[in-house]
Formats: sequence, C-alpha cells, structure tokens
Amino acid sequence: MRRYHVTTFGCQMNAHDSERIKGMLEDLGLGEAPTRDDADVVVFNTCTIREKPDTKLAAYLGEAAARKRDDPDRVIAVGGCYAEAQRERIFELYPQVDVAFGPGSIAHLADWLGAGGVGVARGRFGLDDRDFAAELPHHRERSFQAWVQVSMGCNSVCSYCIVPSVRGREQSRRPGEIVAEVTRLAAEGVREITLLGQNVNSWGRELAPGIDTEFGELLRACDAVDGIERIRFTSPHPKDFREPVIAAMAECGAVCEQVHLPLQSGSTRILKAMRRTYGRDRYLELVARLRDAIPDLAIGTDIIVGFPGETEEDFNATLEVVEEVGYDSAFTFVYSPRAGTEAATMPDQVPHELKIERVERLVELTQRIARERNAGRVGRVEEVLVEGPSRTEPSLLRGRTRRNTTVNFAGDARPGELVTVLVESATSTTLRGTQHALVAA
Ligand code: 5AD
Ligand code: SF4
Repeated sequence: MRRYHVTTFGCQMNAHDSERIKGMLEDLGLGEAPTRDDADVVVFNTCTIREKPDTKLAAYLGEAAARKRDDPDRVIAVGGCYAEAQRERIFELYPQVDVAFGPGSIAHLADWLGAGGVGVARGRFGLDDRDFAAELPHHRERSFQAWVQVSMGCNSVCSYCIVPSVRGREQSRRPGEIVAEVTRLAAEGVREITLLGQNVNSWGRELAPGIDTEFGELLRACDAVDGIERIRFTSPHPKDFREPVIAAMAECGAVCEQVHLPLQSGSTRILKAMRRTYGRDRYLELVARLRDAIPDLAIGTDIIVGFPGETEEDFNATLEVVEEVGYDSAFTFVYSPRAGTEAATMPDQVPHELKIERVERLVELTQRIARERNAGRVGRVEEVLVEGPSRTEPSLLRGRTRRNTTVNFAGDARPGELVTVLVESATSTTLRGTQHALVAA
C-alpha cells in the first residue's frame, strides 16, 4: 500500500485542513506513514503568517529533496498559505515540489494524485472558486474532539497580516450545514467542538439578506445539539464581539468559560496603525463586559511586539494592559514584515535586538501572571476532558479544564471521559491534581 505523511505548520485552521488532506489521501487508498521518511507522498501544509515557518519549510523541503533523489517516485506536495503566497514562483524556488495548492484548493488534491497527474496542471491556487475544506472527507486526530469550520477568509485589513491575501474574503458556511455537521459529529461520539474562522465572530454577516443571523445564534444552535458538552471558538476579533455573543456565552451550558481575545498591542496609537479599529479603552471595556457576564472566564490573547513605530511608551502601554487584564495565557510574537502587507513598507521599523529585548520582558510578565492565575485554581475541583497519558509523566493522565488549561493528574479514566479533578499545584502553563469523580461516561 502506498503511504502518505502530512506535516502541518501554523494555526488551528491548518490543523483542520490537514485532517481533510489526510481524509482525501485515505479515500485515494493511501495509508498513513509514521514518519516523512516512510512516506511515498509527502505533504507539507504550510503557514506564512511570520517568517519563521517559511525558514522551517525550506529545511524540510531540502530533506525531502534528498530522499527523492534516492527514490524518484516519491511525491512532494506543498499546500497552504505559503504555497498560495508564492504561487508564481513556488516551482522555481523548489524544483523538487511535484504538486502545490492553496488553502482553497484542497478539494482538487485528488486530481493530481489520484489520476496520476497526466495532463493535469500540478498547481492550483486562487481565491475566486474556493471550497470549504469542512465538506471534504476527514481523518480526525481524536474521536471525541473536532474542529468545525464556520467561515473562511477575512475581511479585516490589519496592516501587518498576510491572511486576507492568501485566504481571501470572508465567506460564511450556512447555519444549516454547520449544525448538520455538529449533529453528525455528536452522533459519532464527539463531545467537544471548536468553531473555527479567521474572524469567527463576524460569522453570518455576509449571509444577509438571504439569512439573518449572527454568531451568538450559532452558539445557541450548537449548544442545543445533544451530546455536545463543550463548545469553544477561535479566533474572535474584539471589534465584532457584540452583546448577543456575550449573552449566548453566558447562557449556554456547553459554551466553555474561555475566550481567546487577540490584543495585538496595548497602545491606541499602534492599534490605529495596525488598523484594528478598537483602542485600549474599548478593548478593556469589552473585557469588563465579558467578565461581568461570565465570572469565571479565562482570557487568552495574541500580542505583537515591535510593530513599526512602536516606542518605549507604546510598549509600556502593552505591559500595562497585560497587567490590567491578567491573561490566563498569551501568545507573544515578534513583528515579522510580510511582503505585500501595508506595515512591511512603513517607516521606523524597530531594530531586531530591540524587538527581542521587548518580547523577553513581555514573556516574563505574561508568564508571571499566568502562573498567578493558575495558582488561584489550587484547591478547586475542575471538570476535565481526558485526552490521554501525560506527555511528561506517563503514569499520569492529561486533559483540559473548561477554561482550557492542561491538567496532569493521577486517575484511571479513559480518553474522552469527563471527570472532576482536585487541583493540587500549578505552573504558568499546567495544573496538577488527582481525579475526584467521573462526571459522565
Ligand atoms: N508578525 C508577527 N505576528 C503576526 N501575527 C499576524 N501577522 C503577524 C506578523 N506579520 C500574529 C497576530 C495574530 C496571530 C495569529 O499571529 O498576533 O493574532
Ligand atoms: Fe489577519 Fe486581522 Fe484578519 Fe486576524 S483579523 S486574520 S490578524 S487581517
């Protein structure tokens, strides 16, 4: 049997898309290989949001090319956002690549690989006739958790971001299709879903006037599906976080007490240059409204350090907001200029060393706060969805709380079960405890 291997870079949308790529390859009769070296078809699902994944991909492709010299029948395929961004030059840059496709063209993978590629162009890109990857066959990582794609693309114009140019304008899936998928997943044994979109909470807007709906209504519809016990969603944009969504979060039992709320910067001046369309005060007001409605809410964020023109004062404003919000978790990024974005050509690019120095200060702060927030959970009993053995201590189990914190705990539950765990200690990223009781089989 011919075998495939998929390497995934980047965000949850790519993780979701890779499950579809795997499903398509399995439909073509290929089996999954444990490593790239064992595979006849090697797929890279790429990311281009920052420079780092680009560099990593170059190294992997070098390795794959060396293997291909020993075994010329090996197929190298490159999909995802980097492929889309480099569509004009990808085969020039990497002659060893056999097949390349953008994120909206996954459905066509079979054209090249199945039919043997005879007479078929080996690249397919473009944003005009994209397909929802959600509707393709899939191979899920875990039987009890699933990503559910609600939209593709993004209509925002954040000046640093390459996503709109590689994933196109926002397009929402119809509510009926999403709820049908969630119902099907629940029947298959899925208990936790994560609704995905580049700007997940602006979902539904462009379905008007045919369909008059918004993201809060979708949360309620998913909450009503029997068997779905946990609902998460990522990533919302603060500018689109309207009252009905907050109300749905507060009132739906399955919607978890967790939100990822990208801040990007705490300086209103920088936020303006980023074209985020909210300022520091509006962001903090939103946090207050969310906490008011959902008292035990865990808040995570994304922050970019060293955006063009960022002064010490701007950076300090970010530190202040971080302190004021008290994030439970934070992804911190060094600003990375992306060709074709507005910010890449802005004057006053911040020197690399200064960016590094600032991000180190920021990480120190976010870790201290996360450690304090997690320490506040010690002594509590938390509901945990068991995922498997602990990565660090195989004698323990690992799972996640509703607030999305990883817990390592002593217990005898099986993956997919919901248990309660008494939290006994904490670090900045994980909790540790002992199983208390089984919530439901
Ligand atoms: N440089 C650094 N970070 C970026 N992000 C997006 N574009 C860039 C860039 N050019 C970050 C943002 C976003 C996260 C997914 O990646 O913080 O929320
Ligand atoms: Fe990029 Fe902004 Fe869209 Fe997020 S909202 S994908 S940061 S353009």
